[in-house]
Formats: sequence, structure tokens, C-alpha cells
Amino acid sequence: MITKQYTQAPEGKTLLVPSYSKWSDDRLMEGDDQNFMKKLYHRAKDLGDDCYDAMAYELTPLDPEIYRQNLIYYMRRRAWSEWFFGTVSPARQITLLPDDQEALKFRLARQIHDEIRHYDVFEKHLRRYGAEVNLNEFQLPEILVRMQKVQLEMETASEIAATNQFAGEVVLTSMTDREKGIFAKLVDEELMDDIENIEMDEPPHVANGRDLILLFCATPDQRRRLASAQEQYLAAMVQLHALEIVKLGSRRLRPLPVFD
Ligand SMILES: [Fe+2]
Ligand SMILES: [Fe+2]
Repeated sequence: MITKQYTQAPEGKTLLVPSYSKWSDDRLMEGDDQNFMKKLYHRAKDLGDDCYDAMAYELTPLDPEIYRQNLIYYMRRRAWSEWFFGTVSPARQITLLPDDQEALKFRLARQIHDEIRHYDVFEKHLRRYGAEVNLNEFQLPEILVRMQKVQLEMETASEIAATNQFAGEVVLTSMTDREKGIFAKLVDEELMDDIENIEMDEPPHVANGRDLILLFCATPDQRRRLASAQEQYLAAMVQLHALEIVKLGSRRLRPLPVFD
């Protein structure tokens, strides 16, 4: 049975997240721009917390070789994402922004610099496991293709942000939560330490997303477009992340979050 609430799903219950894109114009325009931006932030954060909630899984240890192969695939996927979502998407944002947004363009360029370092981290750990990134030969899982397509279809830097700095990058904070999250139980300490270190770069990236969202949320149409962009991306992303958690040795005990 689905219980309606929006912050944290009690054990065994499905988290329902609001579909802001279906709201009426009047409802979408309730609250100022900051308020709307925070709604998008919290939706991604709630979804990430539920996806990575350790209480939502039981550990199912895998055969060591199967685990190694799955971890290698996972790290290649992460390296691909650091490259595409981390460098190609912010580069597109820079080109889409008007000339008077120089400071924001500069911050996005710094983000690209950080993301290249993140890519290098996964490359290093792949080598530790006897593998390589091989970006050109990486077979993208179907869900990742969908996520990439959603992002490529975005027409403004702000909508890209709703599917990037204000979606996946918010969810990273749930992933690195050692206390409540499942992820630290699925990977070795060396990898977890480096993933945690990557996470230190995320607050400025999320702040880039915040400022991009705030540039484009003055009308019902703009807010609906941002909401829709984030919904499409998060709906696919949660499927991918949950599948990855399972493939690293666990079983999900409750359904994934659902858009209400
Ligand atoms: Fe990154
Ligand atoms: Fe980032």
C-alpha cells in the first residue's frame, strides 16, 4: 500500500515524490523563485535519500569474480558519467548562457576542471581492479541512454541544470552518507574514501545549478519546464542507481520512489 508523504518513506513504504510539472499555473507560482528552487532541490534529495537508504536493502554477498566484474562495469559507468554529465553538459551550459553571465560561465568552467579529476579517480580504481575505462567501447545501459537523451533534448542552460547539477549531483550526497546510506557497505574503503573526496567538490556544482534554476523560474511555463526536465531525469536515474546497488550485492526490500 502506498502512503502519501514526501520526506522519508517509513520502512517498507513507497516514497511518493510530487510531480510539479502536473501542477496548475497558480499552484506552480505559489512562493517566490527561491521557494521553487528549494522545492526542486528537496525533491532530488528526498529521492536520493530513499534510493540509498541502507534500511531499504539487505546485503546478498556475491561470488567474488561476479562482484569484481559488476564493480568494474559500475566504475566504467561512473567514469563515463563524469565525462559526459560532468564536462559535456556544463560546456553546453556555457555556450547557451548569454554574454552577461560571465561569472557563472567561469564557475561552470571550474566545474569541468573538477569533473576531469573525478574521471581520473575512477580510472585509477579501474586500474587497481585490473581494468580500464575504454570510453569508446563502453556499452551504455539502456537507462543511461535515456538519461543522456533527456539531457541532450534540453534547450536552455537552466533546464540542463534541472537534469544535472540539480538532479544527479544532489543525489551524490545521499550516496556518500556513511551513516544512513547503503553504498559504503558495497565497496572497499579505498574506493569509498575517494568517492567521498569527490563529493567535497559537489557543493559549488550544486550552487551552479541553484543559480541556473533561479535565472529561469519567473513564469509558470519556465517552472513547468524545469520541473518536467528534473522529473524525466530523476525517474530514469533512480532506476539505474537502484540496479547498480543491487548488482554490487544487495536486494531492495521496498519499491522505488514513485512520482505522484
Ligand atoms: Fe563529478
Ligand atoms: Fe560535480
